[in-house]
Amino acid sequence: MRIDGRVAIVTGAGSGIGRAIALRFARAGAAIVAADLDAGAGEETARLIREAGGDALCVAADVAAAEQVSTLVASAEAHYGAIDILVNNAAIATGHGILEITPEVWDRDLAVDLRGPYLCTRAALPAMLRRGRGAIVNVSSVNALLGLGHHAYSAAKAGLISLTQNVAVEFGDRGIRANVICPGTVRTPIWADRLARAPDLLERLRAWYPLRRIAEPEEIAAVALFLASDEASFVTGAVIVADGGLTAGIRRMADELMAREAR
Ligand SMILES: NC(=O)c1ccc[n+]([C@@H]2O[C@H](COP(=O)([O-])OP(=O)(O)OC[C@H]3O[C@@H](n4cnc5c(N)ncnc54)[C@H](O)[C@@H]3O)[C@@H](O)[C@H]2O)c1
Repeated sequence: MRIDGRVAIVTGAGSGIGRAIALRFARAGAAIVAADLDAGAGEETARLIREAGGDALCVAADVAAAEQVSTLVASAEAHYGAIDILVNNAAIATGHGILEITPEVWDRDLAVDLRGPYLCTRAALPAMLRRGRGAIVNVSSVNALLGLGHHAYSAAKAGLISLTQNVAVEFGDRGIRANVICPGTVRTPIWADRLARAPDLLERLRAWYPLRRIAEPEEIAAVALFLASDEASFVTGAVIVADGGLTAGIRRMADELMAREAR
């Protein structure tokens, strides 16, 4: 799959899935605007792309801050003259139980995870509409589909599906496609705090996946590349679940019940 000559803004490009998407898109021929709150991490992604012979610009930005998002999009247009692809990937997952989350934590999770994609979409759309084409790829989560905890994060990720569908419906007749990916567990630094408390967490998670493993960031980047490319020319408003089968069924529960009955 090729996206030669396209210009792609990737938010949260300094780590994990965002970095994998930025590197994969660059290998597929796109110029990358690597946006991240962590300027050093975003710059490192841009450096990796340039070292591999690609074209990348890093712009430090908080996706929750409207003025910074405007500057991000203006910098991308000024540098590359167009915006073809927007990947809303940056997110945080800080609060867990509803009784434990403070209103401040709730607001920040929603600000980064839902307001961020709204602000970036709103800022990037005019450039896409002027040229009559654009692909928006939003990164949600299986948390949008099932009650898996992390209430603020999950609510934001469910909202992101609705945002995607509405953008797809409203702007489809003007050449814009918008799709959303719901990944299952992916090995990235987002798990660092929880792994520090429970080092075997990812090992235990594997057992719940029909594929008996969690994903590598590159596997989500491959889905994002398809959705961003012309190969997905008739795909819009779609919710693409890339979760190793996690949400396909609750067979493990059935197996445990059967095993208990057999005893
Ligand atoms: N890793 C998983 O298991 C998993 C599962 C499902 C969905 N996701 C989703 O994939 C996406 C990427 O997650 P990841 O695991 O790569 O996370 P990560 O923590 O490795 O990377 C997130 C990046 O976003 C940046 N960021 C955070 N807040 C920001 C802000 N306000 N503005 C700009 N940048 C900001 C961080 O600096 C970091 O570089 C997220 O949307 C996440 O919800 C991840």
